[in-house]
Amino acid sequence: MINLPWPSGLLAQAAPAEVDYIANSWLGIASYLIAAALFILSLKWLSHPRTARRGVRAGEIGMTIAVIGTLLIYRAVSYKWIFIGMVVGSLIGAPMAVWMPMTAVPQRTALSHAFGALAAALVGTAHYYTLYGDAAIDRFTMAILAVEVLLGSLTFTGSLVAFGKLQELVPSSIKGLPNQNAINFSILGAALVVGIWLTASPMQHWLFPILIILGLAFGLCLVIPIGGADMPTVISLLNSYAGLSASLMGFVLDNYLLIIAGALDGSSGLILSIVMCKAMNRSFTNVLFGRMEPSAGGTSDDIYAGKVKSATPEDVAMLLEGAQRVIFVPGYGLAVAQAQHTVRELATELERNGCTIEYAIHPVAGRMPGHMNVLLAEADVPYDQLKEMDEINPTFAQCDVAIVIGANDVVNPLARTDPNSPIAGMPILNVDQARNVVVIKRSLSPGFAGIPNPLFAADNCLMLFGDGKKALIELVAAMKEG
Ligand code: TAP
Repeated sequence: MINLPWPSGLLAQAAPAEVDYIANSWLGIASYLIAAALFILSLKWLSHPRTARRGVRAGEIGMTIAVIGTLLIYRAVSYKWIFIGMVVGSLIGAPMAVWMPMTAVPQRTALSHAFGALAAALVGTAHYYTLYGDAAIDRFTMAILAVEVLLGSLTFTGSLVAFGKLQELVPSSIKGLPNQNAINFSILGAALVVGIWLTASPMQHWLFPILIILGLAFGLCLVIPIGGADMPTVISLLNSYAGLSASLMGFVLDNYLLIIAGALDGSSGLILSIVMCKAMNRSFTNVLFGRMEPSAGGTSDDIYAGKVKSATPEDVAMLLEGAQRVIFVPGYGLAVAQAQHTVRELATELERNGCTIEYAIHPVAGRMPGHMNVLLAEADVPYDQLKEMDEINPTFAQCDVAIVIGANDVVNPLARTDPNSPIAGMPILNVDQARNVVVIKRSLSPGFAGIPNPLFAADNCLMLFGDGKKALIELVAAMKEG
């Protein structure tokens, strides 16, 4: 373990050759303090769209300061491998950041968690074998190492499966084995037994690979059966595991910033999971151990046959001409079509006619938390027009036209009416209560949860079929002509 030269008069006691090292360490410790403060501020600022950009910058600056501080503190370490690691990491990370489309951010996030967790598991393993291989390890350190490696390995495979599912490399139809929960609990139980055994007898080296294998298997088995609307919660839960694992790594390495950053990551991931569970009206156990069964509430044909009304951009423009209050409801399709600027253009056109505009934001619309906020901020939509679900829902009945752009599950009334639906109980945006509804999407295809949507067949609903951006451009043109 590396013991940092810590305050308490060390400079006074140090031999001259050590002074430089200690001074650098003091600089490093100061930079850790600044970095920790920046991480906390970053989380605070990220929680509101108005300050989110500042939050990202604070996080970036904090991480740069943290890296510099670490290099100052651990000067004894050879820079050669650090440099090689930075080059390899940058070669993988930079193209991912530049070329992965916005719509693929959730799977990119899952991949980042996988890499972070792998790093924590590898550091723990290296520590066990390299530093402690032949020496007696105290039980506290061994317990921390065991939990770190277990969390790291399960988060690694779990995040890879989440990536595979979101990228559609792993078919969503794979739902696991019939007794999946029993298998999962058996693996977890076995892992805990091995972990406790290792803690009691750290020199039983043969147990360590078994712990890793059980962790990897548990992550795989835990996430394989999870699908549909629960994936965002799982990703943020895995984020929380990766953070906890990093925090434990901080204890093992005696690195205070890693403890703080890991704890912040772990707790924010957990809080986000709880918020999302609440938004989807599901419990943790339901998400992790419940199965999504297909709805028994009727096929697409039953729901849509002869009831869907298709409209042209000109029809919709006429409807909008007399509207006093319009609510836009963005969803995943808005991101796919990259229609955020065109929505803003339509909003400006409507405002010119004296119409009030609002945007209804569902907490899990799109494919990542805050997806819609980010898109609309990109188009400079005023923040005060963005309304959260609880605030806007009671007001849909007073809305002349609700325009749904590429949203499906988050406006599906089956969540309220069909207890067998995979989204049963999930709070939705009450778009169906608006006087008129216009839905812009390419077809009657289902959304993420794979179920039909009775909203599209409702009496007050018009379907404007087409790509979100193209349909909106035509709508703006029709309004200008009208
Ligand atoms: P979805 O229910 O996924 O529906 C998106 C709709 O967009 C589809 O029905 C699709 O219909 C349409 N679409 C796709 N491309 C389009 C385009 N170019 N132009 C116009 N429409 C297009 O989206 P939602 O309502 O936002 O709900 C989100 C779902 O994803 C929820 O089930 C949620 O649980 C899940 N999820 C959320 C997250 C987070 S954290 N937000 C992460 C993972 C999963 P067409 O093909 O007919 O056009």
